[in-house]
Amino acid sequence: MPDFDLIVIGGGPGGYVAAIRAAQLGMTVACVEKRATLGGTCLNIGCIPSKALLQSSEHFAEAQHAMAQHGVKIDGVSLDLPTMMTRKDKVVTANTSGVDYLFRKHKIERVTGAAAFAGPGTLLVDGKTALKAKSFIIATGSDSVPLNGVPVDEKTILSSTGALSLDAVPKHLVVVGGGYIGLEMGSVWGRLGAEVTVVEFLDRIVPNMDTETGSALHRVLQKQGFTFKLGTKVASAKNGTGGVTLALEPANGGDAQELKADAVLVSIGRRPYTEGLGLEKAGVVLDNKGRVIVDKHFATNVPGIYAIGDVIAGPMLAHKASEEGVACAEIIAGQHGQVNYDAIPAVIYTAPEVASVGKTEEELKAAGVSYKTGKFPFTANARARANADTEGFVKVLADAATDRVLGVHIIGQDAGTMIAECVVAMEFAASAEDIGRICHAHPTLNEAVKEAALAADGEAIHI
Ligand code: FAD
Ligand code: NAI
Repeated sequence: MPDFDLIVIGGGPGGYVAAIRAAQLGMTVACVEKRATLGGTCLNIGCIPSKALLQSSEHFAEAQHAMAQHGVKIDGVSLDLPTMMTRKDKVVTANTSGVDYLFRKHKIERVTGAAAFAGPGTLLVDGKTALKAKSFIIATGSDSVPLNGVPVDEKTILSSTGALSLDAVPKHLVVVGGGYIGLEMGSVWGRLGAEVTVVEFLDRIVPNMDTETGSALHRVLQKQGFTFKLGTKVASAKNGTGGVTLALEPANGGDAQELKADAVLVSIGRRPYTEGLGLEKAGVVLDNKGRVIVDKHFATNVPGIYAIGDVIAGPMLAHKASEEGVACAEIIAGQHGQVNYDAIPAVIYTAPEVASVGKTEEELKAAGVSYKTGKFPFTANARARANADTEGFVKVLADAATDRVLGVHIIGQDAGTMIAECVVAMEFAASAEDIGRICHAHPTLNEAVKEAALAADGEAIHI
């Protein structure tokens, strides 16, 4: 007799959301999580603590540099890092204990310990307790990719986890990898006073982003004091009393160069996490990148075992994991859950934020799609001027023949919130004209989305 209808392995935004949805649908559910708190990477050491520090550090930077133009004089601004860190920890606890509450509310059995399959239908927790279920969802997430020759000690050579908990501002922070984590955590410590150098292997930062938008982000971060060393790799790191000495080499080969740092953040990507899960005993197959292979119903090759979130293919984003959690629970319940992978937004929470949904210009060109572009700068948006925050633009890409919106890329204040209307538009297969004809409140930043949509047909009003 199975103990549960469903056992979810991993209590992150994929796993905990799947567990709640399954309980709503009438299943008896357990969630096995090895961490002491629920919420996974995202709530404990990812999205939430990083956004708490981004918010606090932005207040610090604004108090120093952005208030005088508003006629607000602030003298003697100083940093209280312990208070900033304590607030961040409290935000994390509020969120993780919120998931505990939701589990109690939905009568989900929370099992603490490391899960490992003993066979296709049985799970061992910490090698002892054997749990049986009709179905299992693997939602074990991801972990940082290590860099050869640069071993993380979480003191001076950090992963994102260490970079969220430093007890002093490093004088010089070297970030290896110019992606999401490097630019967000580089922003935090840069605002708090660190000199930040980003070493990026490729010849551009954020390689998957629309190139024009990525170049705009590069320029604005440079203005904020970031130094970028593109086309460069770190060959080795020597940890000494005076900090870390890195040996840098051109990515395409050439002479090495030394760079000294007080702290180094290694943020060169994340990889699926299946260590110790006993997948070989269950017979679950992985691809050549270590991801659990699933079909479009999240089913692995073993009947009754499903997988979602960072441990399967696709963008490693919390909201993608959660959407998959909902869809997978619905499929197990015999419903028709699905995820629209063409309309998953992505946001980098720098200042300005960068947000996108759908295709980039490069992807459309590569696919041979004929498209038109509408662009609107925030310098021409009344609210952005009133806010004294006019950096950036909205760019709408629409099919040249049908006018259907194929992608939207925004760099600007609150881009992460603004992208939501573009996601809705794409979900409803809107045309650029549809967005252009929708009444947007004035004065709002979102008017720039409407104007960019109008600009796709040369009909923007304010440029
Ligand atoms: P996870 O959240 O990684 O959860 C998996 C859980 O499974 C973990 O708690 C782990 O302990 C547990 N587990 C693993 N193996 C076992 C086992 N054998 N037994 C029991 N439990 C196990 N994404 C965004 O969308 N927005 C952001 O702003 C954002 N910021 C981020 C900032 C940082 C610094 C990092 C590192 C990531 C960020 N992400 C962000 C990515 C986001 O955290 C992940 O995409 C998301 O957490 C994936 O959810 P998941 O449920 O698949 O896995
Ligand atoms: P990333 O994939 O975003 O960026 C890694 C960068 O490192 C790339 O630019 C890559 O070219 C570069 N790189 C790879 N190997 C390198 C090397 N040897 N030397 C120098 N550069 C190298 O990975 P990151 O920043 O570690 O984040 C992991 C994932 O976590 C993200 O892809 C994203 O899915 C998620 N995340 C999401 C956030 C958000 O939604 N705001 C915030 C933080 C993380």
